[in-house]
Amino acid sequence: MSTYRADATFAAEMDSHDLLAKYRDRFHFPKTSSGEPYIYLCGHSLGLQPKSVREYIEQELKDWELLGVEGHFRGRHPWMPYHRLLTEQTARLIGAKPIEVVVMNSLTVNLHLMMVSFYRPTPQRRKIVIEGSAFPSDQYAVKSQIRYHGFDPATSLIELRPRAGEDLLRIEDILALIDREGDSIALIMLGGVNYSTGQAFDLHGITMAGHYKGCFVGFDLAHAAGNLHLHLHNTGADFAVWCSYKYLNGGPGCIAGCFVHERHANITLPRFAGWWGHDESTRFQMGPDFHPMSGADGWQLSNPSILSLAALRASMDIFDEAGMEALRSKSISLTGYLDFLLGQHASSDFCVITPRDPAERGAQLSLRIRNHGRALCDRLTERGVLCDWREPDILRVAPMPLYNSYQDVFGFVERFVAAIS
Ligand SMILES: Cc1ncc(COP(=O)(O)O)c(C=O)c1O
Repeated sequence: MSTYRADATFAAEMDSHDLLAKYRDRFHFPKTSSGEPYIYLCGHSLGLQPKSVREYIEQELKDWELLGVEGHFRGRHPWMPYHRLLTEQTARLIGAKPIEVVVMNSLTVNLHLMMVSFYRPTPQRRKIVIEGSAFPSDQYAVKSQIRYHGFDPATSLIELRPRAGEDLLRIEDILALIDREGDSIALIMLGGVNYSTGQAFDLHGITMAGHYKGCFVGFDLAHAAGNLHLHLHNTGADFAVWCSYKYLNGGPGCIAGCFVHERHANITLPRFAGWWGHDESTRFQMGPDFHPMSGADGWQLSNPSILSLAALRASMDIFDEAGMEALRSKSISLTGYLDFLLGQHASSDFCVITPRDPAERGAQLSLRIRNHGRALCDRLTERGVLCDWREPDILRVAPMPLYNSYQDVFGFVERFVAAIS
């Protein structure tokens, strides 16, 4: 039985008992033309700016101003090893070992770099498995990799699709496909949470099934990192990639993350190389031969953008303070509340397509909208709500446990119901 209530006082009561409520004030909320903060439910697209970001970036600007090139070694946080300030935090965030993670590049770039190492097709084993509704960049990336190796996506790409009349993939269908076609599959590459439906996948089960058949398994965690409480090392996945501008609040285009399982740490897998992945102890001897650092660090190419890393540190410090366990626990409650309130307003104009089981979703609910189209999303913006629209008919709404309140969720549902009436 539900413990939620539909009256406005319930939301206020929940907020007054919320131990994470204090974090809301640590973020900037965009404002409407009348100066009111928006009800911001779009952290699945671009997370809000932590107020502390300015200070973190200004520190690096100051060191650059005062020290110039010396900032690499003499800055308050020397730039040479700066990216390592994020290693432990990143490992904690996704449930990995420090040797397994690195922040570098951007998501699609990292996906390509991972496929250079983990997509090694042969005529017998050449297929890649993705979701039929994978984010377009992932589709472009895998198709271009298949073509790059001289194969044809028409016969080398398997796109998982829901059964007729259904919106979600069934885990039993994914596992059956792997069992059936596994011998011809080189790589299974799925989202941790599908960007469109909000469905979260069983990373461990899929990895086990893939490995049993001799496939490599990797995940795009764009919608899972900072959203789900991940235990990535234990899933056994070969690699994972994610961006930092959604749930992780690193800012537009922020530096991305990459995971390579420990078992690959010291194996010289084929890879593209750059000087930042070269063994640190001899990097500045400027030799011609590449000797990779062990672990995920060995996949780096270039020295990273310090300003981007600084922005990410500001946010990751907040994640560390709040803790993923507490965040996930509030997230389950907050999204459950959103689901509950929407359920009080049954209408033929919308239905929630995201799984109802909290274990199979993160913060996001995807609403299939009928009879309104994108204009509905615009009407919500006019009414002080920021969420987003994905063609052809999906409204995505995601309350963030770090900065959203129960009253935000209540306010959204009130405005949503008014907008579809
Ligand atoms: C699931 C998923 N994959 C890939 C991307 C592309 O990310 P980037 O532009 O950082 O490479 C996005 C962007 O929103 C995404 O949601």
